[in-house]
Amino acid sequence: MFSKEERDAIYKVIHMRRDIRSFLPNPIPQEAINNILEAAHHAPSVGFMQPWNFVLITSEQIKEKLAWAADKERRALAIHYDGEKESSFLSLKVEGLKEAPLTICVTCDPTRGGSHVLGRNSIPETDSLSTACAIQNMWLAACAEGLAMGWVSFYKKNDVRDILEIPPHIDPIALMSVGYTENYPEKPILELANWEKRRSLEQLIYENKWGQKKNQL
Ligand SMILES: Cc1cc2nc3c(=O)[nH]c(=O)nc-3n(C[C@H](O)[C@H](O)[C@H](O)COP(=O)(O)O)c2cc1C
Repeated sequence: MFSKEERDAIYKVIHMRRDIRSFLPNPIPQEAINNILEAAHHAPSVGFMQPWNFVLITSEQIKEKLAWAADKERRALAIHYDGEKESSFLSLKVEGLKEAPLTICVTCDPTRGGSHVLGRNSIPETDSLSTACAIQNMWLAACAEGLAMGWVSFYKKNDVRDILEIPPHIDPIALMSVGYTENYPEKPILELANWEKRRSLEQLIYENKWGQKKNQL
């Protein structure tokens, strides 16, 4: 179905994709935005419910308000850390909402498709999980387009609802900043900042029963 080159390209984009928080002001071609949104819209979704919407934010005024909401939350979250870890947390850049030429608020409508969406009856959060699949598709597509993307989740949902006039039943799942960047690192920014490192995959794989190590990958 796929040639070796095509397979390699898929794995390349999966490994190269990074969360980015610093952006250049250069405009994004409309075609690239369309491709990213098409990629998102072709994600899997529970019962094919397609619970997502995409609010494209280009207004400087609205970006300022979102940045305010994110910064307020960042400062509030600092209480979870003490001493050195607190200063290390506060020194991390966790969003680039004002710099990025475009931010896409990806939302989830839990009412889409009525009250008996196939499969969602068992696990209600499958609507948000479907939206996360759309976000990952967008993220990979952005990387393939040479664009940087950053997932911002530091906010109170009601702040974002108020700023973007989103109805109360709609869940603002993510703010995705998009733009070009000068620095697209090979490793996660949190790894480069010595905050976290990638775990060993081998330790995460069990066979047949929880905790039972698989002998060989
Ligand atoms: C659900 C979710 C929420 C995230 N929220 C934020 C955020 O608010 N701010 C931020 O800087 N990064 C955020 N990130 C990015 C992660 O920090 C990043 O994915 C992780 O460090 C691994 O780096 P990589 O994406 O470059 O591989 C989020 C990622 C996910 C999946």
